[in-house]
Amino acid sequence: MPSLSECIITTQTEFNSALRAATTEQAAEAVRIEYLGRQGKITSLMALLKDLNLEEKKLYGPQLNQLRQDAELAIRAAKELLLLRQFALLQQQETNFDVTAYVPTYTKGSLHPFTHIIEKIENLFMSMGYQIAEGPEIETPAYNFDALNIPAHHPAREEHDTFWLTLPERLLRTHTSTVQIRTMEKQQPPIAICVPGRAFRHEATDATHDFMFMQCEGLFIDKHVSISNLLATLKVFMQGLFDIEIEVRVRPSYFPFVEPGLEVDISCPFCTTGCSICKKTGWIELGGAGLVHPQVLRYCGLDPDVYTGFAFGLGIERLAMLKDGITDIRLFRNGKIDFLRQF
Ligand code: FA5
Repeated sequence: MPSLSECIITTQTEFNSALRAATTEQAAEAVRIEYLGRQGKITSLMALLKDLNLEEKKLYGPQLNQLRQDAELAIRAAKELLLLRQFALLQQQETNFDVTAYVPTYTKGSLHPFTHIIEKIENLFMSMGYQIAEGPEIETPAYNFDALNIPAHHPAREEHDTFWLTLPERLLRTHTSTVQIRTMEKQQPPIAICVPGRAFRHEATDATHDFMFMQCEGLFIDKHVSISNLLATLKVFMQGLFDIEIEVRVRPSYFPFVEPGLEVDISCPFCTTGCSICKKTGWIELGGAGLVHPQVLRYCGLDPDVYTGFAFGLGIERLAMLKDGITDIRLFRNGKIDFLRQF
């Protein structure tokens, strides 16, 4: 059986060679636990002290303490050194990084043309004091038709090719005019709202029609509102959108919720003498408008002898197509990166 002195010397030798073999900070930590942890080899030697007599304690106590202190110091120094070495190695790897070996493949994102134009539309109307409003896309016939003076069996209902849901009395709104009603029901005039939103029609798609599209509804209700206010508003809006002088003209039309009903055209922003976009007419159709029908005001609890107002509904795709020279409405939603990358 080796004496305690021999055990101390052997443990020290073993400890030194274990620490020398450690090449990382984690390995040095493992050596610390092996020798100085709670069950460690040096800790176990120190635990023997309590069973020794006084003479032996005086002899081995200082030797064991020295062994422990030396081990602790050696571990600390080794860890620092190893950390420095690891750090230097990393630095060297970074310096040797070959920039030609890796081509980053990230692609830069951009805003969808809808987002662009909707932001622009909203900013222009807000600058004229309008509030941005919204309403549900799933509607009842009451809001989509009845309140807008399109009773059941009215031929105008047939013109809106409606997506009826399997839920009773629920449909996908066919226009954003529903939000006129929802706003007038809960707000007193003066009312000035702009409603960019989705509408749905059960229609065959072609280059200018989709079954899901976006409209921008406008509604202004106050005392003494006239068609001149409508024309001035649309002119300011269009000039802001196209950044050039634009003329607005109206032609008689029919929408059951306005009287008179109007079709709005703008002078072609791309030519003065006629081009393919305006089909050589110098004018481009924009959408429907008119003065809010007294029946609609009454339905919403407003007195038509006190209040008047105008409303309009413009196709947002149509505006975006004009603005950005896009020739097919279906490009907006087919998700083709080549198309989207242009914006
Ligand atoms: C309406 O929807 C009326 N609610 C507009 C209105 C509002 C009139 C307020 C009077 C007062 P219309 O069905 O014409 O009207 O649609 C308006 C615009 O929406 C059209 O000029 C067109 O630009 C766009 N639009 C209509 N149907 C489609 C479709 N299937 N695909 C793409 N755009 C469409």
